Amino acid sequence: MSHIIPYWRRYQRLIFTAFAFLFLESFGDLLQPMIVSRIIDQGVMEGALPVVLRLGGLMLLVTLFGAGCAVTRCIISSRVSQQFGADLRLDLYQRINCFSFGALGKRETAALITRMTNDTSQLVSFTHGMMRVFVRSPMLLFGAITMTFVLNPRLGIILLVVVPLIALLMYISMKVGFPLFSKMQEALDRNNGVLREYLSGVRVVKAYNTFDQEVERFDVSNTELAATAIKATRVVGVFFPIISFAANMALVATLWLARGWVADGQMYVGQVVAFLNYMMQITMSLRMIFNVYQMFIRAKASAHRVGDIINEEDLQGLGGHSSSLYGGAVSFENVTFVYPGGGNEPVLKDVSFELPSGETLGIIGSTGAGKTSLVQLIPAFYLPDLGEVKVGGISTSYADVNALRASIAYVAQQNTLFYGTIADNIRMGKPDATMEEIEVAAKAAQAHEFISASPEGYETIIGQKGVNLSGGQKQRIGIARALVRDAQILILDDCVSAVDVETEGAIMRSINMVSPTVVLITQRISSVINLRHILVLEAGRVAGYGNHASLIETCDVYKEIYNSQLI
Ligand code: UTP
Ligand code: MG
Repeated sequence: MSHIIPYWRRYQRLIFTAFAFLFLESFGDLLQPMIVSRIIDQGVMEGALPVVLRLGGLMLLVTLFGAGCAVTRCIISSRVSQQFGADLRLDLYQRINCFSFGALGKRETAALITRMTNDTSQLVSFTHGMMRVFVRSPMLLFGAITMTFVLNPRLGIILLVVVPLIALLMYISMKVGFPLFSKMQEALDRNNGVLREYLSGVRVVKAYNTFDQEVERFDVSNTELAATAIKATRVVGVFFPIISFAANMALVATLWLARGWVADGQMYVGQVVAFLNYMMQITMSLRMIFNVYQMFIRAKASAHRVGDIINEEDLQGLGGHSSSLYGGAVSFENVTFVYPGGGNEPVLKDVSFELPSGETLGIIGSTGAGKTSLVQLIPAFYLPDLGEVKVGGISTSYADVNALRASIAYVAQQNTLFYGTIADNIRMGKPDATMEEIEVAAKAAQAHEFISASPEGYETIIGQKGVNLSGGQKQRIGIARALVRDAQILILDDCVSAVDVETEGAIMRSINMVSPTVVLITQRISSVINLRHILVLEAGRVAGYGNHASLIETCDVYKEIYNSQLI
């Protein structure tokens, strides 16, 4: 909970103001039964209408005052709790944005979404509840007991017996109930996880027709959730009636006793009525404490999960954007790399090469050879475990990642498009790009033709992840996004796989005209055959380096790939 406190502290003035109103509101609540008893005893019983009117007027004032306080407090607490939620969500969002690739790899997307949505909502409800109960419940509890003593010490003594009994029953129900509520929360998380996974892969499920398996998986977690929820609510279902029964029995017993006292003239009817009211206030405040405690348990679990994001220390790219500072030369010096949390087997072993600025490096190798892993070290998505990756002569371990990434345009193997227009998606590469620049980039990426063929052209809305585009169209928009960036280094990770050879040739020609340093991963020999620098990767090691002619002579792996693609 400690990492949540700073967020509350931002609103401490408002929170204390709410507490002050809460105090006044509870004070009004405590006065009312007392006034009622006077109205009955001094007014109604004596037949004194002026007293009834005077005290009735007072009661009206107290009620209005209490209502005014309640409304003000409610406005403050809603504002504070929602603002708190917005602050927290924004912080988490920005925080996740700064996560290193290693930190992101450790977590499931579903878990991150739960933290941003459900967990913050739990904390918001607790914050709101806290401002309703913190002062009010103890004040009503002790105030009502005190007022009853003032009213009549005998009735006060009854309360001293009854209240601990009810409190004990509540305590037992909490003890029994809360582990079950925590389990219910866990089951809910699991159920959400299954659901999210299903929704994100629903196309695959339909394609393979594995709906039955998915239903079964969902059914298991869903049934588990229902079972724990039933158990947890059963505790409340059993204990609350018992508690009400105990409270009511106490009332009956009091009434029975009071009958004699009133007859003897030791007590007035109004006092008994007031006592009943206080008794109700006490059970109500105990119930509120119970509810808020329940919220607290959930909020604590949520705070713990939110803390997982707040306390992550594996961050990158904090701070503002810097302009590009790096030259285009890339060199790897005896690089060995293991994925964080990926066991001990390195995916890159002792990789070395040097690519001068302005030249193109082709990387070729079988699937799983480590090509993607290799290029991800260039923008410092990960750092090498041994050796050094240098960009523009500076080791990525010491680089300012913002500046470094500003000098690189990276088209990932699975490039993502976002909901928005085509122009917006291309503009991601350079936020201040003009329409001309966007068109130039799209032309170079051979995308202009199909974009302008659609009626809305660059303003066509692409659905989430680019659902309304073909694979090759998506890839070309991804390339246009990289080209508009005008970066010193362009990394293309197998991103023309869905484009025909002719179009690929045209794209490569226009890239060569702009001539930044290019790192091109490909599966096709034809894409690299004319390059001066070709790196052949095999199981994380450099199997060969050179141009086509020399590799055909010296590198068996290259020869094999070449032969397999001859036909
Ligand atoms: P790569 O993703 O670098 O291979 O994974 P690649 O050469 O680009 O393959 P294709 O052509 O795109 O298919 C290299 C190794 O790294 C591991 C994989 O198990 C693979 O064997 N790996 C990859 C991880 O351990 N974690 C990851 O996040 C990604
Ligand atoms: Mg790859």
